[in-house]
Amino acid sequence: MEANRTSQVNYLNVALPKGRLGEKVYQLFAEAGFECPSILENSRKLIFENPETGVRYFWVKPSDVAIYVARGAADIGVAGKDILLEYRPDVYELMDLGIGKCRMAVAAPVGFAEDPARTLRVATKFSRIARDYYAGIGRDIDIIHLNGSIEIAPILGLSDVIVDIVETGTTLRENHLEVRETIVPISARLIANRSGFKFKREAIERLMAGLGGKDK
Ligand code: PRP
Repeated sequence: MEANRTSQVNYLNVALPKGRLGEKVYQLFAEAGFECPSILENSRKLIFENPETGVRYFWVKPSDVAIYVARGAADIGVAGKDILLEYRPDVYELMDLGIGKCRMAVAAPVGFAEDPARTLRVATKFSRIARDYYAGIGRDIDIIHLNGSIEIAPILGLSDVIVDIVETGTTLRENHLEVRETIVPISARLIANRSGFKFKREAIERLMAGLGGKDK
């Protein structure tokens, strides 16, 4: 009986970013009526569903959420604005959840004096954001694309500056770097697959209404 009912549920498929932000997102979604208590069990499972509330959650790498949503493997998901600006996935951006707040910034070693006559070497994981920013101010740059620990690039002389996410500023401080410019504020966004939004509109709108009035 139970299996039969489960197979008939038209689940709302939700890609959650694995980690602290994702856990916070799940709490908000649960309070909005999309509970799935099994997700709180300590296990290595990655997919959880609740036929009672019609929701199926799966944990994915934060930078992969938009891929699942764009390709329709998930109807909705939560991704940082940084990922949306960098990869420009073909999804609807429905809502700013007001959590996961940080900023994209240019940082440099404390006291770094920029020579405007020279090409600026910029280390980053966010090549497109960096390129767009420097094109906008007409600055000639050389991008050095890295995948993490960006802060050590200027310390080792690999780059002059970095473009990276700054949340508390602790990582910069502890590596003797400082913010030079804020490029854009970042926060977590609710995103939806374009056709998923049409076919699951009722559930998605119910979720958004439930999230709307929350005090974050
Ligand atoms: C991000 C970012 C900084 C750090 C900033 O790294 O790249 O390193 O957080 O946070 P803070 O201002 O509070 O110190 P993340 O943990 O996402 O991992 P990463 O090294 O893969 O970029």
